[in-house]
Amino acid sequence: MSHVPVMLAEVLHHVAPRAGAVLLDGTFGGGGYSAALLEAAACTVWAIDRDPDAIARGAAFAARHPGRLHLLHGRFGDMFDLLAERNVHALDGVVLDLGVSSFQLDDPARGFSFRTDGPLDMRMGRSGPTAADLVNHLPEAELADTLYHFGEERLSRRIARAIVAARAQAPITTTLQLAEIIRAVVPPDRSGIDPATRSFQALRIRVNDELGEIERGLAAAAALLAPGGRLVVVAFHSLEDRLVKRFMQDAAGRAPAPSRHDPGGLQRRAAPQFKLLTRRADRPGEAEIEANPRARSARLRALLKEVA
Ligand SMILES: C[S@@+](CC[C@H](N)C(=O)[O-])C[C@H]1O[C@@H](n2cnc3c(N)ncnc32)[C@H](O)[C@@H]1O
Repeated sequence: MSHVPVMLAEVLHHVAPRAGAVLLDGTFGGGGYSAALLEAAACTVWAIDRDPDAIARGAAFAARHPGRLHLLHGRFGDMFDLLAERNVHALDGVVLDLGVSSFQLDDPARGFSFRTDGPLDMRMGRSGPTAADLVNHLPEAELADTLYHFGEERLSRRIARAIVAARAQAPITTTLQLAEIIRAVVPPDRSGIDPATRSFQALRIRVNDELGEIERGLAAAAALLAPGGRLVVVAFHSLEDRLVKRFMQDAAGRAPAPSRHDPGGLQRRAAPQFKLLTRRADRPGEAEIEANPRARSARLRALLKEVA
């Protein structure tokens, strides 16, 4: 089992690590980005992961880079405090590779996959309520809203009804049990994707508060970047990418800022501190997608903090 880093060349290009730089890898995972950054320049990397397994797996790797790679267990949404506790107050680069790793996805015991049976867990950080807790206890309307908002699932109400009917018979405790309930009420569409895909995505996002993490992480990263520093984010689905795109466009002063008090935008906005390095999202090349199907939906966006 391993994790193949996605769009690694593009990430390196945009982070542009140089000697003496202090960088943050907010999603350490299998350490693919951290390893490449450490190799590219004589820089220091702080690496965060909320999954204790990822931190444990990286310990030997960190020991081989004493003083250059520091592993921190926690959420990137808390990066400001995690780094402040170690007296780090400015960064030359931040990279976030959103979502789950292959280690997590491919381990049935973590409960992320609808292809192999396992406990209905989905917690990246191994703490807090599980997907089974949500599925067995949320009121039907809230369950439907979750599937609709976080999975963009048009048949959310029908699925929520089927889940509530099933759990009245017996608790839903495994991934395949849930997948079968969904497949029984969602007809396969022409795209060939499994009918359970969107619902599993929705539950995973809710269990891990993934969108809240992205909002907090982007704001903290922008605040921590030193002039000339770069923020590079790789997203894997439209909900993630939309947040990243809006945040970066806004930071770079590109998004219109409609205001009730200033409908024509007559008041000048403060000069943007940031510049977009990617006008449109970068996408992986054909060869990468062929070699690593997980890369297919990746979109990379990057932002530069201007030197005043
Ligand atoms: C796609 S993988 C990263 C892979 C890594 N770039 C590599 O090359 O090996 C995402 C990792 O980020 C972690 N993660 C996701 N959301 C997080 C968050 N809010 N805070 C900290 N870690 C998070 C997951 O636990 C997972 O290990």
